[in-house]
Amino acid sequence: MNLGHRPRRNRKSPAIRSLVRENSLSPADFVLPLFLHEDAENTPIDSMPGVTRWSLDGLVEEAKQAFELGIPAVVLFPKIPDEQKSPKGDECYNDDGLVPRAVRALKAAVPALTVITDIALDPYNSDGHDGIVTTDEHGNQHILNDETVDILCEQALCHARAGADIVSPSDMMDGRIGEIRAVLDEEGFENVSVLSYSVKYASAFYGPFRGALDSAPKEGDKKTYQMDPANRREALREVVLDEEEGADMVMVKPAGAYLDVISAVREATVLPLAAYQVSGEYLMLKSAADAGWIDEQAAVLESLTAIKRAGADFILTYFAKQAAGWLRND
Ligand code: PBG
Repeated sequence: MNLGHRPRRNRKSPAIRSLVRENSLSPADFVLPLFLHEDAENTPIDSMPGVTRWSLDGLVEEAKQAFELGIPAVVLFPKIPDEQKSPKGDECYNDDGLVPRAVRALKAAVPALTVITDIALDPYNSDGHDGIVTTDEHGNQHILNDETVDILCEQALCHARAGADIVSPSDMMDGRIGEIRAVLDEEGFENVSVLSYSVKYASAFYGPFRGALDSAPKEGDKKTYQMDPANRREALREVVLDEEEGADMVMVKPAGAYLDVISAVREATVLPLAAYQVSGEYLMLKSAADAGWIDEQAAVLESLTAIKRAGADFILTYFAKQAAGWLRND
């Protein structure tokens, strides 16, 4: 054939492929989500093979290892004992609670590690929702927005007092970014960053996470606050609002099934953009790999590369340590 263009020339060797590669992964792109509990033991999580619920000591050790692999940040998710749960989730701003103690321990042991905390009521709420639940005279449940935001502000302040570098509201209440920013500033925490879960879908892919924390809603679903998976324009509306309210960084969650949304948000804001490869995404890859049906390393690195290609600057992923290890050995 007399072809004027032969795109394959740019793929003819590993060296050329590395020159023309448009996106790359590095351990510095990852945030490792860590589960923790009050127990002295480290417990494997049934719903997430390969993931552990850590004791405080175990948590510190795991974070240290992650940091040594080049992972700059962790995000904490606590399993709260049932007796500490309540309708308003007041335990979430207890300065001696599990998360503040963990933040202090991590900052003492690995000062250069960035510690991110999740801001939402679901681990603390006896109803298993991200906000305060009220029931009307017809027996219908509602999630109270503004009353919830007041408590989220207390939670964010509590985490800031403990030394969190970044607070990350994952609750999807309206107006919480502006209110949290304001109280942090009032209390002298102007250097604490806010990473907003701006675009969080009501996704079936969170199932294994809720199993890990025993945090599933007791009744109903989260569709009155988390977004409808069918919507894309609405994502841009949420991002614009969070940007106006003072978010330092925004997030899209889940990641793999929402690459188009990541790409659209990338075009709509100059803020740093995170994406969360959630528990269900992890589990699908992990279980297929464990069954011998896919090549784990290749499939995981491909999935993470795709998330970056879509426009994410960094990725929250349960594969962070494994992926960092693979990238180092390559
Ligand atoms: C709750 C929260 C959830 C996740 C992170 N923060 C679950 C939910 O909204 O029900 C899910 C993470 C995952 O599935 O890996 N505020």
